[in-house]
This record gives sequence, structure tokens and C-alpha cells, in this order.
Amino acid sequence: MTNVDENKLMTFVGQVIGDWGALASAPLVVIGDQLGLYRAMADGKPVTAAQLAERTSTAERYIREWLAAQAASGYLAYDGDGRYHLEPEQAIALTDESSPACVLGGFEAFTAAIRIAPRLAEAFRTGAGVGWHEHEASLFRGTARFFRPGYAANLTESWLPALDGVTAKLTAGGRVADVGCGHGYSTMLMAGEYPASTFTGYDYHPESIEAARKLSAETGVTDRVDFEVATAKDFPGRDFDLITYFDCLHDMGDPVGALAHARSALAPDGTVMLVEPYAGDNVSDNLNPLGRLFYSASTLICTPASLSQEVGAALGAQAGESRLREVANQAGFSRFRRATETPFNLILEARP
Ligand SMILES: C[S@@+](CC[C@H](N)C(=O)[O-])C[C@H]1O[C@@H](n2cnc3c(N)ncnc32)[C@H](O)[C@@H]1O
Repeated sequence: MTNVDENKLMTFVGQVIGDWGALASAPLVVIGDQLGLYRAMADGKPVTAAQLAERTSTAERYIREWLAAQAASGYLAYDGDGRYHLEPEQAIALTDESSPACVLGGFEAFTAAIRIAPRLAEAFRTGAGVGWHEHEASLFRGTARFFRPGYAANLTESWLPALDGVTAKLTAGGRVADVGCGHGYSTMLMAGEYPASTFTGYDYHPESIEAARKLSAETGVTDRVDFEVATAKDFPGRDFDLITYFDCLHDMGDPVGALAHARSALAPDGTVMLVEPYAGDNVSDNLNPLGRLFYSASTLICTPASLSQEVGAALGAQAGESRLREVANQAGFSRFRRATETPFNLILEARP
């Protein structure tokens, strides 16, 4: 019989207890967000369950249990005597959507994504895909909220400036296509920075395009932004100075076909920007907490999405720069480089 190291076994079980806690507490974070429980505590002042329930028109008994669960999670602080408060850092992460540290979207997205698991188990058997559009609506909104803080912190500040000559073109007035734009936060951020340019967000998912149109009407950039339903291989328009793909190329069934279409839609000296999840080229490079998150999301969402489309290349969310370079080369791009990176993203530039 194999020798079992009891200490190793107990360490592993201890790790899993942490994971169970995260799993059980995730829907409670979504509830706290939905009902405004964190926002009602954002001033950092201690509250009792009765006070928070009154402030948020909720039932005190539920709030009492929720507060204890949140304190045990380290998501708020316990002052004793049934009183709790949000630390300033917790308040930023749990209430401030404009902060790069905001964590709410991830909870909304991943609690939605796990509800696909029964269908996915069947797909594991058959090899069939599960389309992006087949998930529930909170995945679309949650994903947009998950990515937005990172885009807000980096896109106009460092990612576009890292591309060769692109900001000068956009300042003078260029044409931009944002493919697989989802709810269009990336499109709107670029449009906010470059008023002389025009921007079209394309996505094959009609509900996302509808949401993007509504959001852009609220942000006052509609004079230079359009959102259209189109796939990555058939979006109209030519002579784009910049074509962007934010966290979506790997979700597509035919990334080579998508980039080949982009090549034909680019202006002669145009640029493609790929924003992809940070990854090393080898599995062993990615066996860390971020790789865990991305490989898991990839198994739940991205790989099945790609398998549901023609070709079904299934790059996965941890494709890494070398694999993405091959895709760009096959699509006819001869120049390819890592323009910049953050701990969460690779920013890759492809040019004809
Ligand atoms: C993970 S989401 C990213 C959305 C958005 N770019 C963002 O960063 O929030 C992937 C997006 O790619 C879109 N998508 C997937 N396959 C597509 C295709 N073949 N053509 C156009 N859009 C596609 C999905 O509808 C979805 O909105």
C-alpha cells in the first residue's frame, strides 16, 4: 500500500476548507453587492445587524448571519458587541467600481459561470461546445465589471501608448474597431480619451451590444461610438487604424480566421492590439493562483465557447505569447511583439 504522509494529507484538507469557504461565501458577496449592504457600510462606521437591516430595508436575522460570515471571511471587521465595520481598503474593493482594486465583478461572473457545470459535464463527455450566449445574463454583466477596473487603470494610460504610433493617429482622428467588445467599456474608455477618432464595438452577442448601447448613451460618447452586432469574421468597415480584442480572441472558434479578417480590414499601416490574460508559454509557468483562476475560467467558459464555434481552435485563456504569435503569423501578420504587460494581462501588438 502507498505510504500516506498524514501531515501532507491534513495540509491538503486544510487548503480545501479555505476553498469551501470561498465557494460558500461567494454568493453572499453577490448578495451584499446586489442589496447595497457593503455600500451602506462604506463610511467605515460600526453598525449592528439591526441598523444595517434598517438602512438597507432587509431582514435583521439574515443580516446578522451575513455579517458574521463576512467577518469570518475577512471581508469586514468585527468590533465586538454585534457591531461590524468595513475597513477603508475593504470599502474600496467592495464598493468603488472606479477603483482598479474593485473585486465585485469577479464574484458576479464566477457565481454565474458555475451554474453551467451540469451542461459542461455532458460537454466533457461529448466534446461539444457551450456558447458564450448560452450562459446566464449575470455572466455578461459580471465579466464586463470584472475587466473594467483593469482597463480603466491601464488602457489609455499605458496600453495604447505602448503601441507603435497609435496614440498620434488617434489624437489626430483615426478609425478603431473593438471586436468582441461585450458591454463596450473598453470602447468607451478609448472614445473618452480620443474625441477626434471614431470607434465601433462589434460583438456577435445581441444582448451585449444592446447593453453597450445603453451604457454609451449614459456616458455621453455616442457622437463617436457605435455598437453593432457582427462576428469577428464578418464585421464590416475598412481602413481601421486600430483593431482591438480585449480578453476575447481565445474565446473565438477561429482566431486565425478572425485575425485574417482584421488584416483585410486594417489601413495599410494599421495595428491590431490583443489584450489576453497573463500567461507563460508552459503549463508549469502558470501553476499559481492567477493561473488557477484563468485555467478554471477557461475550462468553464472560454474553451467551451470556442469549441461551440466553427473550427473550434480552443486556444484557452492561458494560451501564452508564443501560441498567440503563431495565430497572428498564420493570419498574415509578420510583426508581432509584447507591447507591455501587467500582472493580469499580456498586451500584444500585431502589424502586417
Ligand atoms: C470574455 S468576453 C470579453 C468581452 C469584452 N471584450 C470585455 O473585455 O469585457 C468575450 C466576448 O467575445 C465575444 N465573442 C466570442 N466569440 C465571438 C465571435 N466569433 N465574434 C464576435 N464576438 C465574439 C463574446 O460575445 C463576448 O462578449
